[in-house]
Amino acid sequence: QHCFKKSGDGFLYCEGVKVEDVMETVERRPFYLYSKPQITRNVEAYKAALEGLNSIIGYAIKANNNLKILEHLRGLGCGAVLVSGNELKLALLAGFDPTKCIFNGNGKLLEDLVLAAQEGVFVNIDSEFDLDNIVAEAQMLRYGGVSNWLWMAREEVHPYVATGNKSSKFGIRNEKLQWFLDAVKAHPQELKLVGAHCHLGSTITKVDIFRDAAVLMVNYIDEIRSQGFEINYLNIGGGLGIDYYHSGAVLPSPRDLICNYYTVRELVLSRKLNLIIEPGRSLIANTCCLVNRVTGVKTNGTKNFIVIDGSMAELIRPSLYDAYQHIELVSPPPPEAAISRFDVVGPVCESADFLGKDRELPAPTRGTGLVVHDAGAYCMSMASTYNLKMRPPEYWVEEDGSISKIRHGETFEDHLRFFEGL
Ligand code: LLP
Repeated sequence: QHCFKKSGDGFLYCEGVKVEDVMETVERRPFYLYSKPQITRNVEAYKAALEGLNSIIGYAIKANNNLKILEHLRGLGCGAVLVSGNELKLALLAGFDPTKCIFNGNGKLLEDLVLAAQEGVFVNIDSEFDLDNIVAEAQMLRYGGVSNWLWMAREEVHPYVATGNKSSKFGIRNEKLQWFLDAVKAHPQELKLVGAHCHLGSTITKVDIFRDAAVLMVNYIDEIRSQGFEINYLNIGGGLGIDYYHSGAVLPSPRDLICNYYTVRELVLSRKLNLIIEPGRSLIANTCCLVNRVTGVKTNGTKNFIVIDGSMAELIRPSLYDAYQHIELVSPPPPEAAISRFDVVGPVCESADFLGKDRELPAPTRGTGLVVHDAGAYCMSMASTYNLKMRPPEYWVEEDGSISKIRHGETFEDHLRFFEGL
């Protein structure tokens, strides 16, 4: 069951609420519209896949850091995966249990490590200097974990979202494992090794490599245990992709990820491990659309353009990664509307400012609603104020079909505040 659906009348609905009606009731500017029930359903799918395992669903906050969404995910039992001190502070504000939080990152700052130590969150060791920093700040540190990043990911993902390869800036090469184990042994007061972590990359649409990674990791865990460490956590990271193309292709589900043949599930059970997963995109991307209005339609040479009020400032994934996100009009076209190929572009002063290229759409009239789908992950959290486009407001449809604002849109006055008193 998916929250956004074109109904027989040609209008787009979110959980039964007409998106065009929402546009009439909210501020006149681009906005993000989420389905709260879809967030719940996505978490439930993971929970069902993890049933019978000791596990933590560590939601990757970088994907979407809306406080209301974080509180909802926390209420559903999720933990949190953090990559900065501010993400950690926000997770604590949202009420996440620190013992279900994991602090990752290749450039953790000393002050953020202190906070992590005080709060008792899991800390991933990413490098030699990271270990030195953690030891330096670790009088209070409760946990450490070896981040044993793999170099075996062969999935074809955009180079900017690939992390698990040989010369990645992230993690520790496998052949350095013994050096790190010795370093941990040398600091029994400061470090307690509790688990091993890997993350393969993002937008992964084949689950086999998760299983292959889990096999490798469990072998490392056997070796680490044989040296007297009592480690109990396997963290297989995030990275499960979603159907951005709306092609109807069946993509792997959380159940496929955890319970696939010769599975992560069996491996974890056989070693009596707690499983940590770190989903971002697969929990939140499909719960949201960016809702825009058509400003006008123009043609230059052989190219047709739909110009909308939203842009790369609100949603940068197409510009940055050449990512495809599905685009639709929220209302049926007038009968005379011709279908053409359009680039859907914003008003930002960059040729890279596009939301979609070569999309077949009926020529829309000014003011028509146009949505960019699957905008829940890495869209608002990567938004900028370039060209002084202010970050958009966010709304969600509640279980009872009512609409609530879950974040104010930034205003010009907000911007001026940076200069007050200077
Ligand atoms: N764990 C670690 C260590 C990560 O680096 C990431 C994402 C995740 C978990 C969550 O991965 P997910 O389940 O969301 O794929 N901005 C890019 C994606 C960057 C992902 C960075 N790391 C995009 O818009 O596609």
